[in-house]
Amino acid sequence: MPSLSRTVNIEDLRRSAERRVPRAVFDYLDGGGEGELTLRENCRAFQDITFRARHAVSVGNCDLHVKVLGADLALPFLLAPVGYSRLMHPEGECAAARAAGEAGTAYTLSTISGHKMEAVRAASSGPVWYQLYLLGGREAAEAAVIRARDAGFSALVLTIDTAVSGIRERDIRNGVNQLLGGNPIAMLPFLPQILGRPGWLASFIVDGGVPKLANVVVPGSGPMPMVDVTSALANAAVTWADMRWLRELWAGPIIIKGVLTGDDARRAIDEGASAVVVSNHGGRQLDTLPATVRALPEVAEAVNGRIEVLMDGGIRRGTDIVKAISMGARAVLVGRAYAYGLAAAGRPGVTRAIQILRADVERTLRLLGCASITELDPSYVDFPEAWCRTHP
Ligand code: GLV
Repeated sequence: MPSLSRTVNIEDLRRSAERRVPRAVFDYLDGGGEGELTLRENCRAFQDITFRARHAVSVGNCDLHVKVLGADLALPFLLAPVGYSRLMHPEGECAAARAAGEAGTAYTLSTISGHKMEAVRAASSGPVWYQLYLLGGREAAEAAVIRARDAGFSALVLTIDTAVSGIRERDIRNGVNQLLGGNPIAMLPFLPQILGRPGWLASFIVDGGVPKLANVVVPGSGPMPMVDVTSALANAAVTWADMRWLRELWAGPIIIKGVLTGDDARRAIDEGASAVVVSNHGGRQLDTLPATVRALPEVAEAVNGRIEVLMDGGIRRGTDIVKAISMGARAVLVGRAYAYGLAAAGRPGVTRAIQILRADVERTLRLLGCASITELDPSYVDFPEAWCRTHP
């Protein structure tokens, strides 16, 4: 594995992650839904956008700060929720939250997490958001929301694209269900991939093996056992009908993640959301949804400045971040880009991913002739006209 200082881009971190963790863990992180067309398209679509640079401009020190939900972030990207982070590295969610805080940005904790939310909150000096699925039913969700409020989480993220889990064909081939199921006979055919990663295996054993879902506690029972994503999402979907109940429980901002149309954006505003995330769940849910950057102009136009628009999906370079912000996102969320670093090397790997993206963004702004993130607008990019099509 090249040392972290020699990893030049996110793809280098991806390859290091692939070498350190078992195939089942790597493919869960790297893979997507069905034929993985949307997964690939999220990245590819950035190629359809080109820059309109202003040359011979002296930009001095570039300002990367953005304000998101009232918080000053030192970077125009924050860390997205990533399930099963503790299986990628024992420090999992705590490591990612700490790295985000050190870099001056926010971290989002997934419901499908192995570390307690109080420990994750304490690990970061920056804002921390909680992403809610109704895993374990409403009572468990209520308990989680109250814990998140008391611990000091500053926003709740509702993911709305998980009526059921998308089919993750790689997870089925790798036996994720069997490996988490606890039956040694069923596990047997899938064990060689684990034994082939002794470094990861040793740290997993020292960490106590498969963690529980520390933040899904049905009152009266303990934390829920870790299950595969299909079982986890089977009865965990949030719908618009849950918004009123949640608004009563949670006085802070609610962010709706999984918006791809102007209609859903308007609905989110009507339901009292403070922000939307243009997201197709990193291509992990319904396959052949459009790339998020393609859906961004329609959503930005429908929102028309009334609430904040964020975006995730396919971000591997600073140029992707600058393009998304030029097209109407206030900031972006990165998921795989930092999780490859986490799986490769724990917290230093996340820090390296953040450093790479930060340096990319700064260089891109200089080459573009733009002094600050907040000055970006559509005049800095060209993209296909059809992306602006407004739906009735
Ligand atoms: C969980 O939300 C996943 O996409 O795997």
